[in-house]
Amino acid sequence: MPDLLPDACNIQSQLIRAAAEIVESYGFREIRLPLLEKTELFARSIGEVTDIVEKEMYSFDDRNGESMTLRPEATAGVVRAVIQHSLVHAGPQKLWLAGPMFRYERPQKGRYRQFDQFNVEAFGLEGPDIDVELIAISARLWKRLGVTDLLTLELNSLGDGAGRQRHREALVDYLRGHADLLDADATRRLETNPLRVLDSKNPAMQDMLAAAPQLPDYWDDASREHFETLTGRLDALGIAWTLNPRLVRGLDYYSRTVFEWTTTALGAQNAVCSGGRYDGLVEQLGGKPTPAVGFAIGVARLAALMEAGGTTAQPVADVYLAALGDAADAAAVVLAERLRDALPGLRLVVNAGGGSFKAQLKRADRSGARFALILGDAEVESATVQLKPLRTHEEQEAVAQSALADTIRERMQATPAAA
Ligand code: HAM
Repeated sequence: MPDLLPDACNIQSQLIRAAAEIVESYGFREIRLPLLEKTELFARSIGEVTDIVEKEMYSFDDRNGESMTLRPEATAGVVRAVIQHSLVHAGPQKLWLAGPMFRYERPQKGRYRQFDQFNVEAFGLEGPDIDVELIAISARLWKRLGVTDLLTLELNSLGDGAGRQRHREALVDYLRGHADLLDADATRRLETNPLRVLDSKNPAMQDMLAAAPQLPDYWDDASREHFETLTGRLDALGIAWTLNPRLVRGLDYYSRTVFEWTTTALGAQNAVCSGGRYDGLVEQLGGKPTPAVGFAIGVARLAALMEAGGTTAQPVADVYLAALGDAADAAAVVLAERLRDALPGLRLVVNAGGGSFKAQLKRADRSGARFALILGDAEVESATVQLKPLRTHEEQEAVAQSALADTIRERMQATPAAA
């Protein structure tokens, strides 16, 4: 469970803010839910024989002896809340949720036991228009964050229940016929969750799996039409996609569209954003039949991609105010509060703890500020301040305190941010 230090937090916050702003511009509204749910909810929705439920949940009995689990993902809880509060009775719902998830996985780069997700879930819309919208939203976010070139969209459809059943039978037959090639994991899954064998990354099984029965050959007409409309509209939007007939996802609730944005820039943990339709889940958990679709972004993975694409943490300060002497110290506080009134977004650090001129300028430099403001006895006397650019070779200049806010505003717009 990683500690997120300020630089990491800053990049993740940039991401969450951009994502929230974009999804809200499409009419999605935030929802916040408990981190704990009854264990049974996850077993019933994600599926008893999935890695998450079998091996990865943090579960414990509460004081009533009821088994509770730290949420390993958000969708099950969102569905529970949508049913409990009858949200879809008022029409379709477009929701987003950000926060920590917990999975007892083997930690490695990009895979943690506590990790944040940014989730988007839409209820009551059969699609494929909403499927297209969700993918367009994610593509817009990649563009905003400068990572478009690092991501590939993989799509598949799981078809309908009957098609999945026929595919499952054909797949089990096929895999039994190649039992000698199956590794231990695949042999176990053959009996419990054969679809997941298709997901195996074992190089020794790839040729055999490539020739296995493929889901698209078992699509019903309506699922095929849904997929074709979806992909046609993605083409019209200029969003590139590839069909991955072996994309099945690791959670049982999916039906029809499934997708994953993957990258080659992060090593083994290559899925940055994953989702799909789960048209049967609301009814399965006791609600009225309600189609649904959503996705979740792995925040730490996307943040790592942003860094690969050149994003850095924002500096601590835009402006650092240095003051020398008692009179200047006192005047600095007043001046700083006036600047904050005039420039609400300004990141302004006032030197604290005294120090020589040299020491204060060193701190100013370390803060990443673009400008130092220097206030000494002479400046207090003349109601001015020295404005010293820290990232360019421009000359220091005296500015009247009355004109300082306007000058800073202009200079901030004119000079690019420090790298
Ligand atoms: P998921 O594929 O299990 O799907 O997780 C979604 C994303 O969370 C992954 O693509 C990955 O970026 C990130 N992620 C998963 N596990 C870890 C981990 N241990 N460490 C870091 N990042 C991780 C779901 O959770 C579904 N609920 C998505 C969804 C929403 N489907 C429909 N609506």
